[in-house]
Amino acid sequence: MSTAFSDFVYSQTNTTPDRAIIVHVFFSQHKNLDDLNEFQLLAKSAQVDIAQLITTARSTPQAKYFVGQGKAEEIAQAVQLHNADVILVNHQLTPAQTRNLESLCHCRVVDRTGLILDIFAQRARSHEGKLQVELAQLKHLATRLVRRKTGLDQQKGAVGLRGPGETQLETDRRLIKVRIAQLQNRLEKVAKQRNQNRQTRQKADIPTISLVGYTNAGKSTLFNQITQANVYVADQLFATLDPTLRRLSIQDVGTTILADTVGFVRDLPHDLVSAFKSTLQETTDASLLLHVVDSADTRKLENIQAVNDVLQEIKADNVPTLLVYNKIDQLENVPAHIEYNEENQPVAVYLSAQSGIGIDLLLDAIRQRLKNTILSLNITLSSQQGKIRHAFYQLNCVRHEQINDIGEYQLQIEIDQIEWLKLVKKFADLKTFNC
Ligand code: GTP
Repeated sequence: MSTAFSDFVYSQTNTTPDRAIIVHVFFSQHKNLDDLNEFQLLAKSAQVDIAQLITTARSTPQAKYFVGQGKAEEIAQAVQLHNADVILVNHQLTPAQTRNLESLCHCRVVDRTGLILDIFAQRARSHEGKLQVELAQLKHLATRLVRRKTGLDQQKGAVGLRGPGETQLETDRRLIKVRIAQLQNRLEKVAKQRNQNRQTRQKADIPTISLVGYTNAGKSTLFNQITQANVYVADQLFATLDPTLRRLSIQDVGTTILADTVGFVRDLPHDLVSAFKSTLQETTDASLLLHVVDSADTRKLENIQAVNDVLQEIKADNVPTLLVYNKIDQLENVPAHIEYNEENQPVAVYLSAQSGIGIDLLLDAIRQRLKNTILSLNITLSSQQGKIRHAFYQLNCVRHEQINDIGEYQLQIEIDQIEWLKLVKKFADLKTFNC
């Protein structure tokens, strides 16, 4: 088959939504419905009609179908009854489990990773984003390729097919390998270009403020409110896939760049984290992160943790952060306000991006965090960190120095915050001195 893979990507337009059977297994006695609710939201984001929800409880997955034999037969009956197009399983399935369920139910099976990839494929906007999604999809598909039975490609339905779809399964592995290599090649070039642009900005000393947050927290809405830019906003998960950059002028600070990023999600497959690393590069290099939280979400603490986990994974956990508790219009008696720490530094802002209430406070908090304030810091450096010590002296910011018993330099410095952020960028060791 000679058709290029890319011809399949994003070409599939399905006017009628897929009918899906959703399958969820509870692994603990306490049935936590939040995870299931989120999966249903994800399914709706993929433009799927949920025909039936099938749940079951198990202590461990069953090797053959992930669910037990009886449950698998119940799923098969539900597929027939509803004439379903797809079975969406809220777990990570092995290729064998996917294949076994498909054979039993005569229906396409998409697991959690497949669904997330499908949503990414729908949302990818930039060239780089599209390449990355295609690459991640091909990698996901490659392990599942040769073992599939034919016949499924005759079935209708698009979810899980929006990238390199079933038709690919007739194509041999060699083509996939060639395509993966091509994509990696192109991505490297795009990443190089992106790097150059970023370095130009860094050279010009323009601080970047990066919006991060759990999917659906309201990042794009906030981005629009702040910049009045016309970014795609929808009540769907992952409305944003690629970082969008805007120039933003902040009082006392000057020009900054505001970057919107892809929404984070729990259990993001590891392959995806690496695939999207470069789109999150703005985050790693940012001077300030605005961590947007849906304050009305019952899982807000878990969502904050999930975002922090990804930040750690991409090594952005030391970047100074301002928490933005969004959607306060959905809470009772929570006015827009700034929360300060003991050093009188803003650490959180409560606002409503949709109504615009509190945006002025956010801009003020950003100003306070980024403006030319003098930081007073006590820093201990080992004898191997002479370059850092030298940099402090060059900036004329050392107020006092002494050497302790084990030969370390104990410095008391006073430094302009912007200068400090530049040094933190230059010397990774300084990231541990979080301020
Ligand atoms: P992803 O792109 O999936 O990461 O989402 P996001 O974090 O960019 O969220 P987005 O801005 O698309 O908003 C998600 C939904 O929340 C949309 O329906 C918004 O209208 C809604 N929303 C955003 N801010 C507020 C708010 O302050 N109050 C209320 N009630 N809804 C809001």
